[in-house]
Amino acid sequence: MDSFEWNKVFGALLAAAFVVMGLNFLSDGIYHSGNPEKPGFEIAGGEAIASTNAASSGPTVEPVASLLAAADLAKGEKVGKKCVACHNFAEGGGNKVGPALYGIVDRPIASVDGFGYSGALKTYAEGKTWTYAELNGFLFKPKAHVKGTSMGFAGIKKTADRAAMIAYLRSLAASPAPLPEG
Ligand code: HEC
Repeated sequence: MDSFEWNKVFGALLAAAFVVMGLNFLSDGIYHSGNPEKPGFEIAGGEAIASTNAASSGPTVEPVASLLAAADLAKGEKVGKKCVACHNFAEGGGNKVGPALYGIVDRPIASVDGFGYSGALKTYAEGKTWTYAELNGFLFKPKAHVKGTSMGFAGIKKTADRAAMIAYLRSLAASPAPLPEG
C-alpha cells in the first residue's frame, strides 16, 4: 500500500472513532434524562403525597375508621412525638402552644377553657366534636381542613401513621371513646 492508501485507512479509522464517540454522547443524553437522581413528590418529612389532589381537600383523605381497632399504639406514640413540642398528652396537663389533648376524642372542638383558639377554629367548631373523621381530616392537613387554623403543622400524610396517631389519642382517656362501627 502506498501512503495515499494508508491515509484512507487512517481516515476511515478516525471516522469510525468519531461515530463511536458520537453515539456514546447521544446515548448519554437519551438515557440520563430517564434517570432522575431523586424520585418525584418527595417532601421534607420524607412522606410521599399520593397525588396533588389528595392534598387539597377533606373528602379525598383516606378514612382510618376501619384501621383503628388494629392500629399500633406504640407507633402512634412515636408519631405523636411530632405533637409534643406544642401539645400536652398527659392527664391534667396544661396548654402549651396548642391546647391540652388528653381526652380529645369526642370532645367538643375548641373547648379547652383558657386556650386562645384562632377565630377560624372557633367558627369551624360550632356544635362539632372531634370525631374520628374530624381528626382524620384535620391531621391529614390541618390548614386545608380548617382554613386559617393557627396550628402550624403540615399534617400526617401516611394513612397508617394517621390511624396509629388517632388510636393513640383515643387511648389518652379514662374511658376511651367507642371504636367506630365496621
Ligand atoms: C407547631 C405547634 C403544633 C404542632 C406541632 C401540633 N399542633 Fe395541634 N394545635 C396547635 C395549635 C396552635 C392549635 C390551636 C389551633 C387553632 O386554634 O386554630 C392546635 C389544635 C389542635 C387540635 C384541636 C384541639 C381542640 O381543643 O379543639 C388537635 C386535635 C390537635 N391540635 C392535634 C395535634 C396532633 C395530634 C399533633 C401531632 C401530630 C399536633 N396537633 C401538632 C399547635 C400544634
